[in-house]
Amino acid sequence: MTVLDDVAAPGAATAAAIATDDRYAAHNYAPLPVVAASADGAWITDVEGRRYLDCLAAYSAVNFGHRHPAVIVAAHAQLDAVTLVSRAFHSDRLGPFCRALAELCGKDAVLPMNSGAEAVESGLKVARKWGTDVKGVPAGEGNVVVAHGNFHGRTTTIISFSDDDTARRGFGPYTPGFRAVPFGDADALAAAIDERTVAVLLEPIQGEAGIIVPPDDFLPRVRRICTDRNVLFIADEIQSGLARTGRTFACDHWDVRPDVYLLGKALGGGVLPLSAVVADWDVLGVLHPGEHGSTFGGNPLAAAIGSTVVAMLATGEFQDRATRLGERLHARLRTLIGHGVLAVRGRGLWAGVDVDPRLGSGKEVSLRLAAHGVLVKDTHGSTLRFAPPLVITADEIDWAVDQFAAVLGELTQANVSARKSSVAS
Ligand SMILES: Cc1ncc(COP(=O)(O)O)c(C=O)c1O
Repeated sequence: MTVLDDVAAPGAATAAAIATDDRYAAHNYAPLPVVAASADGAWITDVEGRRYLDCLAAYSAVNFGHRHPAVIVAAHAQLDAVTLVSRAFHSDRLGPFCRALAELCGKDAVLPMNSGAEAVESGLKVARKWGTDVKGVPAGEGNVVVAHGNFHGRTTTIISFSDDDTARRGFGPYTPGFRAVPFGDADALAAAIDERTVAVLLEPIQGEAGIIVPPDDFLPRVRRICTDRNVLFIADEIQSGLARTGRTFACDHWDVRPDVYLLGKALGGGVLPLSAVVADWDVLGVLHPGEHGSTFGGNPLAAAIGSTVVAMLATGEFQDRATRLGERLHARLRTLIGHGVLAVRGRGLWAGVDVDPRLGSGKEVSLRLAAHGVLVKDTHGSTLRFAPPLVITADEIDWAVDQFAAVLGELTQANVSARKSSVAS
């Protein structure tokens, strides 16, 4: 039996849980056959009692590790006080959270929402309203420039400007008003802007596309172009932000300050969905009562957790860990180039790894890695993403990369054997 057979033929508890999922949960994902029962720090334990090193961190939503003690203490305390009043009333948690987050971002104010996609939708609505109310673009005429290869979420409007056919096909009609340019091409971006452009929306480092870092002059040029042309620069830092890349925001690597930050994922401390649009009053001030909202947005439980997350980020500890340990992760992964790995990209504890497609698909490599006790996720084709919780240790990084090297060795061996047998036959 091969390692892959171990994963493909899971234990009884795993099989039963997956069967129930398959029967009752919509099939909009194709998860690895690992059924989590508990998790702590960088580790997940499955229903069979097997432990896995989590090198995905829920797509960066678990930046601070599973059940970080400070987050859990804050959540428990708030559960015993008040959890939800809607925005029909005030709560004593919302203001302090918004103040702390605005200060972290160096902005005036916060629009709290829940999922990342909601933050993106809200940012786009704010930009369109800013376009009509402040810039003077005729109502319904504003356009937004985005990048090819983007990933900003799954709502109808957001998929309207995605170029991922799987994400789009069958979901039309699509929302108009978007123009896509190659990511990293500031000249194309400048050329796409006209007098009706209200915003440029970018991930500073593209996550789902495979951790694509733009050329060094790109974001500073985008900043200048947006200022010169009176266009809002919206940075989607939902996956790249909150310490993942070694800085509070990925934009910080280039000393760039966008007009609008979109935040999510790790803002909820790995406990609940909490997202935000963060900007100055000259932008967020375009919203008036009744024009936008969310029943759960900014609820006291989320705000208490969000305040704790912001306080953790304010210490700089997690940014330092991501920088230090990220250098180790990248250095170790780079030693595998030429041994089954074609390229390694990224910043901080965020690495996109292109595996030689002759060795197998990203999914196959992920399956084998799971059998070795390491959880990662493929993005496209044979590209894997390593994004462990920032509480991972140096030894754990070494161990994860050792397991990856072992998997590449197995696949290389299998590939050589397959070629030999095809030559023989
Ligand atoms: C850059 C970016 N924006 C937005 C989203 C959407 O976030 P959510 O899945 O919470 O809606 C994601 C999710 O992966 C993302 O990576």
